[in-house]
Amino acid sequence: MSFKDKIIKDRIPAHVAIIMDGNGRWAKKRGFLRTLGHEKGVDAVRETVEAAAALGISFITLYAFSTENWNRPRYEINALMKLLVTSVNKERKTFMDNNIRLLAIGDLKNLPARSQGELKKAIEDTSGNTGLRLVLALSYSSRWEIVEAARSLARQVSAGTLKADEINADSFSGLLTTAEIPDPELLIRTSGECRVSNFLLWQIAYSELYFTPTLWPDFTKEDFYKAIVDYQGRERRFGLTSEQIKQTKNRHFN
Ligand code: IPE
Ligand code: IPE
Ligand code: MG
Repeated sequence: MSFKDKIIKDRIPAHVAIIMDGNGRWAKKRGFLRTLGHEKGVDAVRETVEAAAALGISFITLYAFSTENWNRPRYEINALMKLLVTSVNKERKTFMDNNIRLLAIGDLKNLPARSQGELKKAIEDTSGNTGLRLVLALSYSSRWEIVEAARSLARQVSAGTLKADEINADSFSGLLTTAEIPDPELLIRTSGECRVSNFLLWQIAYSELYFTPTLWPDFTKEDFYKAIVDYQGRERRFGLTSEQIKQTKNRHFN
């Protein structure tokens, strides 16, 4: 029986974020260059995105390139940037067939001009699609975006358009790159590493974390369904007691 059949249809998360990790190790294990692992990783992206679209998930955010990844060897950075351009072009049909709208977060001005151009074009071309929103995190790090938000607040306070006391969690969220995106209910990381590597630190305050040893290029639709089933088996308490949560649920049912 597929994990898909175990998914409770009315409890699908609205937003799933994924740290796609393990491409290099996948390639190394086979005696290939790390860059081949990245290429193979694109197939796993397609699989996952199709599965998410079919389940009716509203947002999927994929960590594709971090601020810290700029410190990798030049040849690997170049290969990743090239892959971004080719994949965004090649997957145009996947986006249109599945009614997917592409979005991007991160310090995009750091990307090579060609990558920025292709990305912008794909974002525009898919802007009329109304299904899954696929958010690519590129040249992204959480500390970068939090510092940017803090700077913006400081500017508003010094200009006299905002009082320091008016700053709250909601207005702060509204200044992040994810302003229009709900916090992820579920964060998945592949490759067995149990860390968040500067990804969505503010937004994952109450996310359920799911770590799997599967390397990203091996990640399939079935692995994605398995993560959703695991998520659905958890009790999200948000600081309350289990009894309080059950009472609220009962009230909803009665
Ligand atoms: C994730 O795979 C992709 C990126 C970070 C761009 P890695 O390249 O980090 O693969 P490992 O973790 O070295 O195996
Ligand atoms: C996180 O993976 C970034 C992406 C998946 C894009 P890394 O491989 O860069 O993270 P660390 O270095 O293992 O923490
Ligand atoms: Mg890695």
